[in-house]
Amino acid sequence: MFAPPTIETERLHLRPFRDTDVDAYFWVHDAPEVRASLRIADDFDRDAAWSQLCMWNGQWTLRNSGQLAVVLRETGELIGRCGVHRPERRDWPGLELGWTFHPTHWGNGYATEAGRANMAWAFANHAVDELVSVILAENTASQAVARRLGFTLREERVLAFFPSEPHGIWYKPRP
Ligand SMILES: CC(C)(COP(=O)(O)OP(=O)(O)OC[C@H]1O[C@@H](n2cnc3c(N)ncnc32)[C@H](O)[C@@H]1OP(=O)(O)O)[C@@H](O)C(=O)NCCC(=O)NCCS
Repeated sequence: MFAPPTIETERLHLRPFRDTDVDAYFWVHDAPEVRASLRIADDFDRDAAWSQLCMWNGQWTLRNSGQLAVVLRETGELIGRCGVHRPERRDWPGLELGWTFHPTHWGNGYATEAGRANMAWAFANHAVDELVSVILAENTASQAVARRLGFTLREERVLAFFPSEPHGIWYKPRP
């Protein structure tokens, strides 16, 4: 069993999710732009958001991987999530670094800042040669974050979990 980390960056506090985060988590994922980018199902509601919080904290406990709440240090507001993801999916390409923020907080470099900190944590705490990021071809904003962190696109393929369209598989070798 593992305990999730807490990470401080210049502007952000990254911490495990709490039960009281459900409304903020749903707010982030209910934004139309986020729903579209992540192909979130129409029936994803506040109850489903709570189940995701449980999933992230469960993954931390079982695998020492998961997403963290991203909180603005200046205001204490929860503005997104970022972290690593290694679900039990037969063709998942590896330990995935990911990021999602509410659109009102895009364009400030928060995803890159949180991603960089999580990347350092992941390489320090997991015996992996590389991290992956699974990104749709149309998601240029996410690709830009990946590029800024040193990821490169290796291949595009259809994953079992996303059968309807191919995803780009981006890789970042251990520094
Ligand atoms: C992907 C996503 C997190 C990217 O957000 P973002 O705000 O574009 O990325 P960053 O936080 O790294 O910010 C980068 C932008 O902030 C600007 N910026 C401003 N201040 C900055 C600073 N101090 N440091 C770095 N960049 C800064 C950069 O110039 C860049 O602007 P640009 O897009 O005009 O070039 C966001 O689009 C999102 O949440 N999308 C929906 C969910 C999603 O698709 N997740 C990924 C699935 S694969």
